[in-house]
Amino acid sequence: MPKQIRINAFDMNCVGHIQHGMWTHPRDRSVEYRTLAYWQHLAQVAERGLLDGIFLADILGVYDVYKGGPESAIANAVQIPLNDPLLVVPAMAAVTKHLGFGVTCNLTYEPPYTFARRMSTLDHLTDGRIGWNIVTGYLDSAARGMGFASQPEHDQRYDVADEYMDVVYKLWEASWDDDAVLRDRQAGLYARPEKVRPVRHDGKYYHLDAIHLCEPSPQRTPVLFQAGASTRGRAFAARHAECVFTYSPNKETTRAIVTDLRERAVRNGRAASDILVFAGCAVVVGRTRKEAEEKYAEYRRHASIEGALAHFSASLGVDLGQYALDEPIRYEKNNANNSMLEAITIRSKEPWTLRRIIDRMVLGSRNAPIVGAPDEVADALQSWVEETDIDGFNLSRVVTPEGLEDFVDLVVPVLQERGLFKREYAPGTLREKLFGAGRARLPDTHCAAAVRPRASDRPLVLAAK
Ligand SMILES: Cc1cc2nc3c(=O)[nH]c(=O)nc-3n(C[C@H](O)[C@H](O)[C@H](O)COP(=O)(O)O)c2cc1C
Repeated sequence: MPKQIRINAFDMNCVGHIQHGMWTHPRDRSVEYRTLAYWQHLAQVAERGLLDGIFLADILGVYDVYKGGPESAIANAVQIPLNDPLLVVPAMAAVTKHLGFGVTCNLTYEPPYTFARRMSTLDHLTDGRIGWNIVTGYLDSAARGMGFASQPEHDQRYDVADEYMDVVYKLWEASWDDDAVLRDRQAGLYARPEKVRPVRHDGKYYHLDAIHLCEPSPQRTPVLFQAGASTRGRAFAARHAECVFTYSPNKETTRAIVTDLRERAVRNGRAASDILVFAGCAVVVGRTRKEAEEKYAEYRRHASIEGALAHFSASLGVDLGQYALDEPIRYEKNNANNSMLEAITIRSKEPWTLRRIIDRMVLGSRNAPIVGAPDEVADALQSWVEETDIDGFNLSRVVTPEGLEDFVDLVVPVLQERGLFKREYAPGTLREKLFGAGRARLPDTHCAAAVRPRASDRPLVLAAK
C-alpha cells in the first residue's frame, strides 16, 4: 500500500496570509475572517475532504523591516490586522467531528502555567483534536510590544523553549494521575487529592510550584508541531516534534532536511516514523489544464508584490527595499529566520537577487503554486512525497474558500483513486488519527514520558533537569 498523504489546510486568522493581494479578488472571502461563519464553513469544507487538519499560523508583531516601517504591511493587510488563532478553534470544533487543529502559539512571552491550561481546555473542548505549533517568534516588533528592547538571540530562544517544554510536559503529564478524577456523586468526591500533585520546577528560565488547573484531557499533551529549520531548530524538532512543517524551497533541500530530521529522531531514541513532515504548497486546480491556467492568470492580476516583499523582508530580517534589482542578497547574521536567509545566500548555488525573488512572486508569495488539472496536481504532490519522503502538505490558501473547495472536489478524489489518500477518518484523537490506534498520548519513547510519575513517586517532587 502506498504511503498515505497527509493534508492540512494552512490558514491564519487574518486577511493576507501567504499569497498577498488575493483579498482584492472579487470571489475571495478572507475579509470575513472576523466572523464565526467564515471559520465554520472552512472547517466543514476541510472535513468534507477528509483533510487531517486546519493548521493556523500566527505571528506576534508586525512586519516592519521592509523600507524600515510597517506601512507596506498595513496597506496590503500582510498578516495585520491579525486575530487570535486559538479562539476560533471551538467554533470549528462544534461543526466537525474529526478535523484536527494545529495552532501556532509563541511561547516566548507567555508563562507555561497559563498556556498549559489553555491547551488542555482546547483538548477537552475538541475531544482530543488539538495540536500546537511551537514557535519562539522572530520579530523584534513583538519583543517591543511585550516591553523588551529586542527578542532573545536565535539559539537562546530554542534553549528557553527546551526548558519551557519540560515545564508544560510536567503540567500536562504529571500533575494529575489518570485515576485522579472520580466524579462520584454519592460520595461527593470529585477528585482524589492524593492523586493530584504540584509540579515543582526550578530551572534557568522558569520557576514553578503549581498544580495544573485542568483535569487530564484526552491527549494530555497536544500533538506537537514545529517549524524551525536551522540546525538548532532541527535538534529541537527531533526531541519534541511529532509533526514538522518544513521550509521546502525545492525537492533536494527538502529531502536533505527530512533525512536529517529522521536520523536525529532515531538518535534521540525515537522511531523515524515518529515525525511526520509537511511541506508548504499552494494549488490552483481546474477541471482541465486550460481552466486552471485561466484561473491562475486571473488570480495573478490580484497579487501584491509589495505585500510579498514586506512579508519576506521580515522573515529574513533583511530590508529587501534597500537592494537594487540585480544586486545579490547578502548574508548577514541576524535574529530572524536564519535558515531562510542562509538558503537564499550562502547555501544557494545561484545568487538570489531582488529581480529573481520578484519573478517568483507570481501569486504574492515567494513560492510558485502547482497549477493544473486534477491529475497533474496529484502527480506533482505524489512526486514530492516519493522523492523527498515528506508525509504531506500544508496547503496554503490562495483565493479562499474557493481554493480549498476546488482542492476537495477535484484533487482529493484523484488521490483517493490512486490509494494515496484516506476514504474515511480513523477514530480517536488527532494523535491516533496521525499515528495509529492506541496512541492517544505521547509514546514512551518521547522525552515527555520521562516526567510521568511512577507508582513509587508519592508525594512527587519534580526537580528541574
Ligand atoms: C514553514 C515555516 C512556517 C513557520 N510558521 C511560523 C508561524 O506561523 N509563526 C511564527 O512565529 N514563526 C513561524 N515560523 C518560524 C519558526 O518557528 C522559527 O522561528 C524560524 O524559522 C527561525 O528558526 P530557524 O532558524 O530554526 O528556522 C515558521 C517557519 C517555517 C520554516
